[in-house]
Amino acid sequence: MKVLLAGATGYLGSHIAKAMLNKKMDFKAIARNPQKLIAMGIPKEQIIEAQLTDRASLKGICSGFDAVISTVGITRQKDGLSYMDVDYQANKNLLEEALESKVQKFVYVSVLHGAALQHLQICAAKERFVTELKASGMPYSIVRPSGFFSDITEFYEMAKKGRAFLFGDGQVKVNPIHGADLALVCLDALHEPNTSIDVGGPEVLTHQAIAEAAFNSLDRKAKITYIPNWLRKIILRISSLFLPKAQFGPLEFFLHVMAMDMYAPAYGQHTIRGYFNELKQTEKTRHR
Ligand SMILES: NC(=O)c1ccc[n+]([C@@H]2O[C@H](COP(=O)([O-])OP(=O)(O)OC[C@H]3O[C@@H](n4cnc5c(N)ncnc54)[C@H](OP(=O)(O)O)[C@@H]3O)[C@@H](O)[C@H]2O)c1
Repeated sequence: MKVLLAGATGYLGSHIAKAMLNKKMDFKAIARNPQKLIAMGIPKEQIIEAQLTDRASLKGICSGFDAVISTVGITRQKDGLSYMDVDYQANKNLLEEALESKVQKFVYVSVLHGAALQHLQICAAKERFVTELKASGMPYSIVRPSGFFSDITEFYEMAKKGRAFLFGDGQVKVNPIHGADLALVCLDALHEPNTSIDVGGPEVLTHQAIAEAAFNSLDRKAKITYIPNWLRKIILRISSLFLPKAQFGPLEFFLHVMAMDMYAPAYGQHTIRGYFNELKQTEKTRHR
């Protein structure tokens, strides 16, 4: 099976690319900045430089591929583009090309509970794409992760600074998943019939337990400040009035999911404590 991967420069996409390299799979990766992929060890001949937001420039990009995996979406990018421009339209551009080239499978990464959260800008865009993918006749798998280890790095950073800030009473439960584990879910999804896969990591922990694990990994006593939910709601309201739409979107998503349980069927090997220890080791090596 020949796979075209979009999003390989990102957290999850880079793990998918590494997993495909390890498995010696036949694949190419699309990037707007190929240097990032070269730095990751992806051979030049497996890289396609393209702008997914520019439909005209994608002509024939899916030709010869059996499957497409897309993890493309806005997380921390500050290009001034909206979720509709990227999470919806860029993926739609790719889907149209995939349909023209008679690709046999499209794996798309959305968000856990995305359908129920369409009042949020990010989920509105992702779910609009999901709806069109399902209606397109293209065989699909929608992967719906609970959250990524890359995001809980923030708990580690707060612990390093000496104090963690949590919303409510810190008892909201989550099971984020490591990119390496989720990459395998995405690759297995290539062989699934039309499906939607809710997935999280192996441990369901409260925000408080994650914060404590972060302090613990640094051999520090946990210091936690709890931000009341009424204050979270006021921040949300004020930000919605004064921030430009593109800046408000990520904050809107963050302030919502930090106040709700986000756990899904458990998968994978990587633990949160192991991840914090990994971060600590990486820092030690860097400082040597
Ligand atoms: N983080 C979470 O907890 C979480 C949870 C559930 C679902 N998700 C979703 O999972 C997906 C992957 O997340 P991630 O953490 O791997 O994100 P990431 O590290 O930000 O990677 C996103 C990818 O999309 C590409 N991209 C973004 N804007 C683009 C644009 N304007 N044109 C072309 N490419 C663009 C990025 O390319 P560049 O490197 O060139 O910017 C990158 O390859 C996202 O759609 C995210 O919403 C995330």
